[in-house]
Amino acid sequence: MEEKILICDDEEGMRLYLGKILRNWNYQVESFAEPEMLLRWANEMESVSSLLLLDIKMAQMDGIEVLRRIKQLRPTLPVVMMTGHGTIESAVEAMKLGAYDYLTKPFPQEKLLAMVRHCLEAQRLREENNILKREIREHHIPAPPVFQSSRFGEVLQMAQDVADSDAAILILGESGTGKELIASTINYASHRAEQRFLTVNCAALSENLLESQLFGHLKGAFTGATQTQKGLLEEADGGTLFLDEIGELSPALQAKLLRVLQFGELLPVGSTKPRQVDVRFLAATNKNLEQEIVKGNFREDLYYRINVISLELPPLRERVEDIEPLARHFLDLMAPKLRYPLPSIQPAAMTAMQHYHWPGNVRELENVISRCVILSRGKPIGVELLPFNTDLSSQLQLPADSPFTLREAEKIQVIRALEQTAWNKRRAAQLLETSRKTLDRKIKEYDLTQESTAER
Ligand SMILES: Nc1ncnc2c1ncn2[C@@H]1O[C@H](COP(=O)(O)OP(=O)(O)OP(=O)(O)O)[C@@H](O)[C@H]1O
Ligand SMILES: [Mg+2]
Repeated sequence: MEEKILICDDEEGMRLYLGKILRNWNYQVESFAEPEMLLRWANEMESVSSLLLLDIKMAQMDGIEVLRRIKQLRPTLPVVMMTGHGTIESAVEAMKLGAYDYLTKPFPQEKLLAMVRHCLEAQRLREENNILKREIREHHIPAPPVFQSSRFGEVLQMAQDVADSDAAILILGESGTGKELIASTINYASHRAEQRFLTVNCAALSENLLESQLFGHLKGAFTGATQTQKGLLEEADGGTLFLDEIGELSPALQAKLLRVLQFGELLPVGSTKPRQVDVRFLAATNKNLEQEIVKGNFREDLYYRINVISLELPPLRERVEDIEPLARHFLDLMAPKLRYPLPSIQPAAMTAMQHYHWPGNVRELENVISRCVILSRGKPIGVELLPFNTDLSSQLQLPADSPFTLREAEKIQVIRALEQTAWNKRRAAQLLETSRKTLDRKIKEYDLTQESTAER
């Protein structure tokens, strides 16, 4: 696209001179003899332009006033002021009002060219930067959580309600329930969404490393600190910091973090000069922090600071309605990624998934589905592909270290039959396809009583 340069100067000679030079350099030019015409143009025309050369001293309206108005109409249009002799002060004022630079008349062609190129280049970089920022932001758009259950819906609604406040939020839940997803959902719905959203996993680093990562350090603060380094708390200034697994934070770091939450003040390692930061805190844990307080592992004062609002994500087994939509969601997501045709899920497999207790919650379901996508190669997913025991009465499984004997297996089958029939021996014997007499013998042999089997 050819770049278009606007000129606004009430001196005809100047307009002709500038127009001629700029056209020679292959720029498009649009000239305005009166500021009002320029303002009307800026107000009414959709067309984009790259740069405005604006005279500071015009008969009809002061250039500074024109600048002020044009900045309102076109905030991103770069403006270069053209000043005559003795108007330097106005030029300085113009810079304060957002002019890109100024040229003092008379100026040689080369100077004009250098200025125009500079300005356009800076503008191009700014636009690129904006695009990148937007891309990063879009990259960080969390996919909306999938759910059907009202329990998850209520937590999500609450997260959205409190997102836009700056309150610290503690996200609780078993491993894999979606704590990180909720944290980014909160960030995305907050007024800080365009600012940085940084995450630190408090369990992943040693105490010293975590301290310097959070608070930064001065050059020479410790062996190996060859350069002064900003910490994540400072990097997140103006934005949000997500402290994952906060229950793992050491007592010393808990104390240091408390200062940040109380006073917005931090001390880089090796420094005596505190720095101010404005950070919104989100934290997550699968620990019971109240118990940790009782055990003396977690500071109560810090707990109250990070827990202004708490959100508790229910485990997947307590929201069985979510299993099917989540499974389908992961299937849709995974099949194209793994380059396999989209398989269907057989009803028996879906039922088995709905009965399983999912100790690893949604993350485990996600893994199970990707495994099924790979193994099924596009064919319907059946129970045989599920990596857990799909037998619904599998509570009586042999522990891995139990003796591998027929006797033991027989005992377990007898117990199963008796439990299933609530100790109705006639029906239990039918289930075992044996006689009532044999069953009685087995009960005696294994020393089984209704009480002892109920305790299992
Ligand atoms: N409701 C949901 N809809 C869609 N995807 C989800 C949902 N909940 C969790 N997930 C996905 O499941 C995986 C685990 O979620 P996430 O990492 O947020 O859990 P977590 O609670 O932080 O786990 P951990 O305690 O292991 O760190 C992620 O890939 C996440 O995108
Ligand atoms: Mg997590």
